[in-house]
Amino acid sequence: MPLIQWDETMSVDMDELDEQHRELIDLINETYTAIQRHDEPQMILLLDKMRDYSIVHFEAEEAILRSCGYPGTEAHAAQHRSFEARVADFRRDMFTKTNLSQVFIFLSRWLSSHIMHEDRKFIPWLPETDDEGA
Ligand SMILES: [Fe+2]
Repeated sequence: MPLIQWDETMSVDMDELDEQHRELIDLINETYTAIQRHDEPQMILLLDKMRDYSIVHFEAEEAILRSCGYPGTEAHAAQHRSFEARVADFRRDMFTKTNLSQVFIFLSRWLSSHIMHEDRKFIPWLPETDDEGA
């Protein structure tokens, strides 16, 4: 069973960002599976992939927020930096921690809560899309 399941309550009403969130969630779920299997090579590979993709996604999201003048952009970006730092800590300590699954679950919950609560705050600032209501 996946650790996080994307559903409509996580939508930010913008396909580009929704797709990136889905991709990130897939990588989180795959990483979690590797952790549970104690598959160290896969853990490293997937965690690095997840970290790299989160950086790319956060950059894209922050660029969108700046371009639409969202007033909370800098505070929001600081939350992204905090997540990146937590992932870096996890990556550094991953082979010395005994409660790896719990730490990773905490990380994944942080991200799903960020998407559901923080990302959704910028919805009113996003440009209207043509397919709205379709
Ligand atoms: Fe965000």
